Amino acid sequence: MGDERNLLMIEQLKTYFYLDENRVAKAVDGVSLSIKPGETFALVGESGSGKSMTALSILQLINKPGKIIDGSVSLDGMELISKTDKEMSKIRGNDISMIFQEPMTALNPVFTIGDQITEILRKHKGLKKKEAHNRAVELLDIVGIPRANEIIHEYPHQLSGGMRQRVMIAMAISCEPKLLIADEPTTALDVTIQSQILDLLKEMQEKFNMAVLLITHDLGVVAEYADRVAVMYGGQIVEQTSAKQLIKEMKHPYSKGLIQSLPSFKKTQSRLDAIPGTIPPAYDFPHGCRFSARCPFVMDICTQSNPELIEAASDHHVRCFLYEEGGADIHETASPAAK
Ligand SMILES: Nc1ncnc2c1ncn2[C@@H]1O[C@H](COP(=O)(O)OP(=O)(O)OP(=O)(O)O)[C@@H](O)[C@H]1O
Ligand SMILES: [Mg+2]
Repeated sequence: MGDERNLLMIEQLKTYFYLDENRVAKAVDGVSLSIKPGETFALVGESGSGKSMTALSILQLINKPGKIIDGSVSLDGMELISKTDKEMSKIRGNDISMIFQEPMTALNPVFTIGDQITEILRKHKGLKKKEAHNRAVELLDIVGIPRANEIIHEYPHQLSGGMRQRVMIAMAISCEPKLLIADEPTTALDVTIQSQILDLLKEMQEKFNMAVLLITHDLGVVAEYADRVAVMYGGQIVEQTSAKQLIKEMKHPYSKGLIQSLPSFKKTQSRLDAIPGTIPPAYDFPHGCRFSARCPFVMDICTQSNPELIEAASDHHVRCFLYEEGGADIHETASPAAK
């Protein structure tokens, strides 16, 4: 296991937004993670925790006033942060592609489905018009679109949300990328369609041996589809381990709060409906642990300094003083403060 190479490696990535003279939003603040070929890596966390900005940083799609100010992103050992726009646009589409939460924003309303897929195939794969057309029909068929021969001539608005998302997947896999980034690919869809789309993604992943960075706020999705997982809070990873291990034993109080807000867990555990409070704004994080103001286990030290991400158990990293030396004793006796 240990010597298997990484496909994507992110090290100490920092992406900040310079809002005005006094305010800097630390959207991504020292994130490190790596993804192996064919693996599904999930990023979870509440709204505003920095998931999308991490994804967009990988693709070098951060716009002003945002900027990647530090760290490294490498694909197959090739550093991406120093690439030019031209070099990056080649990598996006050939090696890495991305699907978004709302496919309407990524599909062009004035072109047919066919035009949009064939354009990618002609640009990135150098296919001729006829070849590109045939391949586009094939791709629509692969992603489970019925009557692909007819649908190819339709416009995005003529399709249902689920069908549009299938088209997005067809476009994303058209160049057989090594890495597919799926940013909440199913949140706009109803529940039965959600699982169909996620199953389709999994099938495509196996077929093309793609790695997938799956962004979600749903731990149920993590349990079912991910190999590894990082929980983000306030621009940082607060817990990282295998998906199996996380579901078995959440260590960070924030992760525990997240799982307890899941509908399936509510039936058996009624302590917390959702985590009280909200993420502090990214330009105004507290000095100590960024979760301290909402944490039921908060200790004095938590408001004084921000804990490091440490390996609390084998291959299980957590950013919390409860797991630092001496912290475990406190953990044994700690009980959530009364709300
Ligand atoms: N254009 C922008 N200008 C200023 N700050 C921004 C901008 N875009 C993002 N941010 C900051 O980055 C933080 C992280 O945003 P991001 O979009 O990565 O969150 P997310 O985890 O993807 O949330 P969601 O679940 O809502 O998609 C935000 O809280 C915000 O402070
Ligand atoms: Mg997002």
